[in-house]
Amino acid sequence: METVLSGIRPTGNLHLGNYFGAVQAFVKLQHAYNCFFFIADWHSLTTHPKPDNIRNSVKIILAEYLACGIDPEKATIYVQSDVREVAELYLYLNMNAYLGELERVTSFKDKVRSQPDNINAGLLTYPSLMAADIIIHKAHKVPVGKDQEQNMEMARRFARRFNMIYGVEYFTEPQSFHLTDKAMKVPGLDGSGKMGKSEGNAIYLIDDEKTIKKKVMKAVTDSGPTEPNSEKPEAIANLFTLLEIVSSKDTYDYFNEKYNQCEIRYGDLKKQLAEDINAFCSPIRKRIIEIASDEDYMKKVAGLGAAKARESAAKTLREVREIIGFRS
Ligand code: ADP
Ligand code: TRP
Repeated sequence: METVLSGIRPTGNLHLGNYFGAVQAFVKLQHAYNCFFFIADWHSLTTHPKPDNIRNSVKIILAEYLACGIDPEKATIYVQSDVREVAELYLYLNMNAYLGELERVTSFKDKVRSQPDNINAGLLTYPSLMAADIIIHKAHKVPVGKDQEQNMEMARRFARRFNMIYGVEYFTEPQSFHLTDKAMKVPGLDGSGKMGKSEGNAIYLIDDEKTIKKKVMKAVTDSGPTEPNSEKPEAIANLFTLLEIVSSKDTYDYFNEKYNQCEIRYGDLKKQLAEDINAFCSPIRKRIIEIASDEDYMKKVAGLGAAKARESAAKTLREVREIIGFRS
């Protein structure tokens, strides 16, 4: 069975974009693949050396993933810093990672611009830590967005280079993975672009009914079409995309018909959209609160995941040490 691995930095709550863009796919994959999901808390140190709240952020993201339906009995779900073997593999990969290639990575160059006072070695070697995360479990497929392509290319390169240097066919080259042929983009409610944390336009799975309604009612619209069957401007098309994602086909068709006949009332559409988003989020929200309040369960899940991940990582490290020539 092939192995799928995915990681997320604990930087905030999950929103509808994360859910429909990434999490939903993981939930589906867990039945068909050997799956690893992990929370990349070491990676957070590259930008937040003293993450005040890192334990809390890790707990929140863990509760949210579980509430979305990731089953700890099927998938191995763990926290990166619980698997110290990753740090050992990171060290070996760094010995064969070169300054020039690391300096050329776009996200490193971006960080050099955005945090000039903290250009640390962790930032520079972010791709080798990410490669260690992936190849330590010999992952075949890694579901990631477009922004991670360069890191994936580096992971393949480091895997290949290890095999070359030590004359083995040991690591597989991991491939990026999308569930559909086109990556899904969940739009925001502010008229253009995607929903995102940094865009400040996100509806979070944890948002309550009132908050969701307030956010949806504020969505950007226009004065409505004047010609039947006109093309929808981006802000309106975005609202329809959201309807398509969370509402029934009947609801979508109803408002689409109204739009085509120039009889659309955006207030009604938004009310319905808010209701449907709430109907989707409400059970997840309840589960997040339930799971987050059950510290023992969370500890058990993280403990079980760490043990399974460590077993897989330790096996790789034993073999890697032997290949390089250290005592295993
Ligand atoms: P954000 O952009 O809100 O900071 P992250 O960068 O943490 O989110 O992304 C986590 C995952 O969610 C990634 O796999 C990313 O591709 C996916 N994702 C984020 N926003 C969207 C969106 N609007 N549509 C589809 N997928 C998204
Ligand atoms: N770099 C990824 C991001 O910013 C997070 C990440 C770290 C990751 N290690 C990984 C993703 C390994 C997939 C596999 O989203």
